[in-house]
Amino acid sequence: MSQEADTPNLDFAGTTPYEDYVQADVLTHLQHLRSDDPGEMVFLVTTQVMELWFTVIVHEWETATHALRRDDIPAAVAALKRSLRELEALNASWRPLAQLTPAQFNSYRSALGEGSGFQSAMYRRMEFLLGDKSASMLVPHRGAPRVHAELEKALQEPSLYDEVLALLARRGYAIPASVLQRDLTQKYEPSPAVEKVWTDLYSGDESNELARLGETLTDVGELVWRWRNDHLVATRRAMGSKTGTGGSAGVAWLEKRATKNVFPELWTARSHV
Ligand code: HEM
Repeated sequence: MSQEADTPNLDFAGTTPYEDYVQADVLTHLQHLRSDDPGEMVFLVTTQVMELWFTVIVHEWETATHALRRDDIPAAVAALKRSLRELEALNASWRPLAQLTPAQFNSYRSALGEGSGFQSAMYRRMEFLLGDKSASMLVPHRGAPRVHAELEKALQEPSLYDEVLALLARRGYAIPASVLQRDLTQKYEPSPAVEKVWTDLYSGDESNELARLGETLTDVGELVWRWRNDHLVATRRAMGSKTGTGGSAGVAWLEKRATKNVFPELWTARSHV
């Protein structure tokens, strides 16, 4: 029987080309629920969706980092701008979990055991790329060689912000040697000299490509801060001040994490412009 014109193909020898590319069959069978509670599915899938967005965002920020290393600012900004839309989508995915009540969360919480987003390696790679390095964050992943190796590499490599500062130095801005030669495995500490460079850039022509790069990084920082705050408020609603499944003090611990500024001097320089 000949197929009608203008209708999609129905006949494939093996799996569909869609399946071969998307692997939807794999993706939609990774939901191994641990309770009978009907609300657990959206908790698990939201977490998986966020892991996928973390993966895309890490990819964009690595693309931007490599582009900055070759002085290709347009390619870096293009990747960072893509990441802004992705961060917005990531943040929007809080919606299904944002108003959980303690009773709803309790219905499957014990099934999570000691599992916690704190153990997310992809989130940690995001933080490392932002300059928030910490060797101790590798410890939970000792039992997973591939994950551990990827994190170890990310710990040793310059962060996105390190590459921005190296580029500013190549363009003649006074970034101190102590910043350029810092121990990359340590958390980036704010520097008054770097703050001065951003102050000067922001006090000059706002259409300067470096000032615009600063604004794009500020957008990234703001959206990361929003993710942390949405997480904090969702947690406060779902469990008050109980301790976390990962063993932390819960909300009190998250509150401290949420006050950290991403790309610190981009925020403090604003007081001096
Ligand atoms: C409403 C549901 C949620 C609650 C009540 C909650 C609670 C918590 C708590 C208490 C912590 C602190 C560590 C601990 O002791 O466990 C934490 C950390 C974390 N959670 Fe959640 N969480 C929720 C949803 C999610 C989702 C959907 C994700 C997505 C992957 C996620 C990702 C993270 C990450 C990445 C951390 C570590 C943050 C950091 O290192 O600064 N959480 N969560």
